[in-house]
Amino acid sequence: MKNTIIFALLVLGVIAFLFLLPRKEVPLIPHDQRHAEVTAEEGCLECHGKGRPEQLKEGHPPKFACFKCHRR
Ligand code: HEC
Ligand code: HEC
Repeated sequence: MKNTIIFALLVLGVIAFLFLLPRKEVPLIPHDQRHAEVTAEEGCLECHGKGRPEQLKEGHPPKFACFKCHRR
């Protein structure tokens, strides 16, 4: 009986994991004035670079080639 419960919880955990995974997708570049004006990747770092107001999170992947991953 106990094993069945543990197994059920495990299955639920895996389902929850698979369900949450796609949310880690690369966020799109917001479709607003601020972002429409920037065409060069250096421009991104004016706001998202180190010490800037919208600094990237610690775990953020590469700090360059923004457009490779982020699309409009
Ligand atoms: C003028 C400052 C500014 C510049 C330049 C800028 N951003 Fe942003 N960016 C922001 C702000 C502020 C936010 C968060 C608020 C919002 O969603 O508008 C944001 C949000 C984002 C998000 C969404 C994050 C999320 O959680 O959905 C992405 C992706 C992003 N920026 C990428 C870029 C890229 C790529 C560039 C270069 C083309 C860039 N930004 C240039 C200010 C800027
Ligand atoms: C290798 C692919 C890749 C590249 C290159 C990349 N990003 Fe991201 N970015 C991501 C992913 C994946 C996330 C979502 C991270 C998360 O949810 O923790 C993200 C999240 C963000 C966010 C949301 C806030 C945050 O820090 O999580 C912003 C803003 C952002 N990126 C801006 C940029 C800018 C500006 C550049 C260029 C300097 C860039 N990204 C380059 C993959 C990339």
